[in-house]
Amino acid sequence: MSDVQFPNFSSKIDRPTSVKIQDFQRQGRLKHIIFGQQLTPLLMEKLCRSADKIRTMAKNPDGNAQLRNLLADKRAMLYFTQPSTRTFLSFMAACQILGITCNEVRDPKTSSEVKRESRTDSIRMFSSYFDVIIMRSQVEKFAEVCAYMMNELEEQEQRSVPIINAGAGSDEHPTQALLDMYTIFRSFNFESLSVNVSSELNQLKRRYPDLVSGPHQKTYLFCGDISRGRTVRSLATVLAQYPDVRMFFVSPDHPSLRLDSRLKQFLIGADVEVHEFASLDETIDGSPILSETDCFYMTRIQREHNTPEFESQLSQMDLSPFQLSLQRVAQLKSFAAILHPFPRDEVVGEIPPEVDRDPRAMYFRQARNGMWARAALLVHLFDASEDLFFAHSKSIERSV
Ligand code: NCD
Repeated sequence: MSDVQFPNFSSKIDRPTSVKIQDFQRQGRLKHIIFGQQLTPLLMEKLCRSADKIRTMAKNPDGNAQLRNLLADKRAMLYFTQPSTRTFLSFMAACQILGITCNEVRDPKTSSEVKRESRTDSIRMFSSYFDVIIMRSQVEKFAEVCAYMMNELEEQEQRSVPIINAGAGSDEHPTQALLDMYTIFRSFNFESLSVNVSSELNQLKRRYPDLVSGPHQKTYLFCGDISRGRTVRSLATVLAQYPDVRMFFVSPDHPSLRLDSRLKQFLIGADVEVHEFASLDETIDGSPILSETDCFYMTRIQREHNTPEFESQLSQMDLSPFQLSLQRVAQLKSFAAILHPFPRDEVVGEIPPEVDRDPRAMYFRQARNGMWARAALLVHLFDASEDLFFAHSKSIERSV
């Protein structure tokens, strides 16, 4: 629940997401990124292509120098008033790669909010000095409200800048979905195997005859805190746009943790085959759910949202049926990808460190992918994709 009200924007907030997202687009491009649903399959392909180009260019000094020129006239505000390691640092690294100058506010006690300045006034002030505002807040809907505010300013022909939602309460985390999708695209790119290791591809095709590249025709298993995990909500809504997707949700059977009915109805309405389980050892049509899984997405229990009452219930719960032990990893398909947005909980150990050596453990690569994917997003928001493609072809020419 939000701890402030946004009465001026309630009529906008109360609309269905599918209607709202039109406010955040401009001529086929993103104006702000607030919801996972904005990441359409077409846009995802473009962003993955840009991310791949940035990643290759960053491998050599000439490419790096080109990248640093791309958005050198831009300034970014990182307004992160909720704890963050990966999202904050990967956005900062993405800005540095592209030559964008960054500034940050992480503790609102150091800003004029202590003088009773409203959060929306603070954001409007940032927009006076910076060209993009990347924000994480514990206040649900705050990023969305800031995007409406920027739209109104634009209508009044005043200064307006893109808003990037880097995590809003337990609501949405669209840029995490972006890097998760980039990791999924890279993990399920089987054609690339045919060039390098054709025998590996043939083996895979013999073992899994229906195997196709891409996020479609896949089974995704989400495990842990399904209800309060904003990363699950955002990723599931992006994946729901692809055909023949099956989703397994595995969590303790408790209303604070299991799949909430709103997301469930949305997914079913989008033709996703949805199944819920209360242990990783359950079966479907006689097969273990783990052996049916193409992508395993683990999440930690979001303790910061616990009420004291739920905290004591949780301490009595056996969480071992939700732990990805080595024995359970062994049941996954040979090409499966294991993802986790991180941080993982050292005490619960939902993915114990011994799993890290398994080639299917993608979570550290996933975090690094966040830097490339977020750089690609910034390039898109600043309409610099053509400049990137040009710089990329120049840097290839020079390297041959
Ligand atoms: C997630 C978040 O903050 O929502 N982490 C992240 O951004 N990489 C997940 C979490 O905190 O559990």
